Amino acid sequence: MTRRPYVIAIDGPAASGKSSTAQMVAEKLGFLHVDSGSLYRAATAAMLRVEADASRWTEQGVLAAARSVELRAARTSFYPALDGRAMEDEIRGGDVTRNVSRVAQMPRVREWVNDRVREAAESKDVVVDGRDMGTVVFPDADLKIFLVADSRERAARRLRQRGTPTSEKMLDDETIRINERDARDARQTVPAADAVIIDTTGLTQQEQVEQIVSLSKQRSG
Ligand code: CDP
Repeated sequence: MTRRPYVIAIDGPAASGKSSTAQMVAEKLGFLHVDSGSLYRAATAAMLRVEADASRWTEQGVLAAARSVELRAARTSFYPALDGRAMEDEIRGGDVTRNVSRVAQMPRVREWVNDRVREAAESKDVVVDGRDMGTVVFPDADLKIFLVADSRERAARRLRQRGTPTSEKMLDDETIRINERDARDARQTVPAADAVIIDTTGLTQQEQVEQIVSLSKQRSG
């Protein structure tokens, strides 16, 4: 009998370091990384190309735009492509970030994302990250992690990630944006009852990656 693929689900609020942590854990274990947020972002970017005025978006319109997005496998991760092209810069831009939570409230868009993520995990061991991976998408995941961190610390990390000089004012503004997005995403950002909660406020990236890798080795060993 073939063994079913191993799934590690990493969830948590905005900018809690889920994606970068998931990518590093996947590389250490030889798994593939699937970033479910990148699909919500890709659907939003695809819709923005069709209609720039977000107040006119409908669920049906977003779903139609999302159909030209596919999730492709690279060496260590999956990435969304629109009409066959990678769209990394576009999906990380301010326009997408401002509008993505609205798209993520649309039930059929959530189904579309969940189907793509489950397909990716059909034949490969994966580390998936998002908000509801351990609750809705993979309730039977082998290991569930929920990352939390102070919102000002998350804002500081996001600014550092951008690599541009920052001021206190920029940090204040980014903290507000993150708190607003947390509030909009609150409904789907709930830890599974069996998730291990890791507060990363005082941890380095390396430390949090090591913790998750050793938890997964304990579980499978
Ligand atoms: O990296 P960051 O935490 O800023 O965001 P992300 O993981 O790229 O997710 C972008 C947006 O997609 C979130 O603000 C949520 O609105 C939505 N999302 C979701 O609803 N459920 C998921 N499993 C993943 C993302």
